[in-house]
Amino acid sequence: MKVGLIGLGRMGAGMAANLLRAGHELTVHNRTIAKTKTLASQGARVAASVAEACRGDAVITMLADDAAVEHAALGTGGIVDSLRAGALHISSSTVSVALSRKLAEKHAAAGQHFIAAPVFGRPEVAAAGRLFVVAAGEPQVLEAAAPLLDAIGQRTFVVSRNPMVANLVKLSGNFLIASVIESLGESMALVGKAGVERRQYVELLTSTLFDCPLYKTYGALIAEEKFEPAGFAAPLGHKDVRLTLEAAEALRVPMPLASLLRDRFLTLLAHGNEQLDWSAIGRLAADDAAVPRG
Ligand SMILES: NC(=O)c1ccc[n+]([C@@H]2O[C@H](COP(=O)([O-])OP(=O)(O)OC[C@H]3O[C@@H](n4cnc5c(N)ncnc54)[C@H](OP(=O)(O)O)[C@@H]3O)[C@@H](O)[C@H]2O)c1
Repeated sequence: MKVGLIGLGRMGAGMAANLLRAGHELTVHNRTIAKTKTLASQGARVAASVAEACRGDAVITMLADDAAVEHAALGTGGIVDSLRAGALHISSSTVSVALSRKLAEKHAAAGQHFIAAPVFGRPEVAAAGRLFVVAAGEPQVLEAAAPLLDAIGQRTFVVSRNPMVANLVKLSGNFLIASVIESLGESMALVGKAGVERRQYVELLTSTLFDCPLYKTYGALIAEEKFEPAGFAAPLGHKDVRLTLEAAEALRVPMPLASLLRDRFLTLLAHGNEQLDWSAIGRLAADDAAVPRG
């Protein structure tokens, strides 16, 4: 397909490379132009503007947050202004339910198609084309998008005809991941203070009752205190917990654990740790308990 991709950050760069590998005719756009270099050398066209990236059958956005996606999609000369009628916007960023609803309305009014297709998996998973895609939209539109979603992910889960439901499901998943990071951090602070070696402890957990990728990945990061370079930056983790709470409030769903996690992220950011991986909240319990670092 002829496709544009806007947002070549940690995730978007890998997704773009896989679209090229799958044989799609790709045009990329990024605010910081230097990040387009590698992809250009791999055969992607580089667009100087959002509008230029919207000349094909579809455009994928993989930008940081609501503000960036809203500006790219709804700003003057943005995606809604630029896509032809019948073309498709695939929104893969983790954004709010409210923005997803707004994008669906604006694209429909312009005669364009819209699906939400947020993803699970960190940058190395994106680079390997092994993401899990959570998709929602009209069935015939999802079908048309399948060659693109297949190029970036190992499996697509269709959760609804209504795009914003995919965003809600994605946010719920990130809330669960953050809960695991926090609980791993607390249990490691407990045994760590008593002198148990943290890597051995994670080995014990993940080879018995907690034999799953999440505990393995985050257990290792917390045990090794390897929070840099960030795979998923702390401000984005904070964003996701905030958006989860926003959605929960709109639906009148109390989520006390999410409220606690929001404060954990605020603590991390208040100490100037914007550059760290979000798993760094897993170190806070040990800090509270005066467990020595390293
Ligand atoms: N990292 C993960 O593990 C992961 C996993 C699943 C989902 N996600 C979600 O995927 C999305 C992208 O994450 P990421 O880790 O790739 O983030 P990232 O590395 O921080 O990249 C963010 C991208 O957004 C662009 N951007 C940010 N603010 C902008 C603005 N105001 N105007 C225009 N462009 C702007 C950046 O452009 P510049 O290059 O110019 O800064 C960059 O292309 C986020 O919604 C995140 O929550 C991330």
